[in-house]
Amino acid sequence: MATGSSSVAVALMPYPYQVAGHAAQGPLKLTDDGCVLKPIQRPPKGMREVVFYDTVFNKSEKRDEILQLRRLLPYYHGIVEIDTSKYLKLENITNKFQLPCVMDIKMGRVTWDDHADETFRERRRKKWPLKEVTGFSILGFMVYNHQTCCHEHFNDEWCRKLFTVQDAEKCFHQFLGSIQLEMTFDILGQLLANLVDIKEWFTTQRLFRFIASSILIVYEANSSKKFGKHQNSHQQSETVENMHQLSPKNLLVDAKIIDTAHVFPSTDFDSNYLFGLENLISILEKCKEKYAVK
Ligand SMILES: Nc1ncnc2c1ncn2[C@@H]1O[C@H](COP(=O)(O)OP(=O)(O)OP(=O)(O)O)[C@@H](O)[C@H]1O
Ligand SMILES: [Mg+2]
Repeated sequence: MATGSSSVAVALMPYPYQVAGHAAQGPLKLTDDGCVLKPIQRPPKGMREVVFYDTVFNKSEKRDEILQLRRLLPYYHGIVEIDTSKYLKLENITNKFQLPCVMDIKMGRVTWDDHADETFRERRRKKWPLKEVTGFSILGFMVYNHQTCCHEHFNDEWCRKLFTVQDAEKCFHQFLGSIQLEMTFDILGQLLANLVDIKEWFTTQRLFRFIASSILIVYEANSSKKFGKHQNSHQQSETVENMHQLSPKNLLVDAKIIDTAHVFPSTDFDSNYLFGLENLISILEKCKEKYAVK
């Protein structure tokens, strides 16, 4: 596995499926080898994310919690430097999809560092009212519209108007609108399996506290793709290297942890993250029941 810095020439393109995120250091870029480049943010955020990925993908790492965590993250290819700018090179989670529909869900009711003052905390609570109830916020999403043959982007301004569990449910139905109704039940089943994997990891690990981290959900809007043998990227194979190389072409849904610029060492369970994830799972389970064939 490749970690560390490299400054090899890479052909860059704009990344078309970014649904959220700051553009302070510029948007994500697409490489021609199936990866995204995320600009390293200013200190201390940027370095914290680099240290996190370096720790998790360290070749000599043996701790089981860390090895298990790798499956839940985009594969990390190290740092690249292009024209004096530094980037994290990550697996592009949308790459295995022909018509990806993408949603960024920020986890936790508390999305600020310990040192944040009360004014900042209150501003965040007001800005993202849904998380006060559910413990997660939908930051943005993109859905493929088969009529116009274009992706529609629902941005942060749109998502900040979500207040209640019912609003969140409607939003998920809107997000899932790109697939035929009869497939939605299976897609949700697969998505829930991925989210339960993430939850299982969080219920055992006591190493990290994930503040303001997201789960990126992607599903396939091209309905000519059918479910195959390998559906769950988390359960694909034993090692992350194999998983990366043997990524299923017929993947219909994926859910991975992204945005780890505020991950801190811990000695306890991440109850803030788990609260949001348990609510997310139960809301999606309820959505799934609506698509069950009667
Ligand atoms: N590995 C990835 N594969 C595909 N898309 C990604 C990946 N990582 C991030 N993205 C896209 O880019 C967006 C922003 O990413 P991210 O949340 O990591 O950055 P950010 O919020 O700008 O970071 P920060 O909080 O460190 O400033 C996500 O909403 C998602 O659409
Ligand atoms: Mg983000």
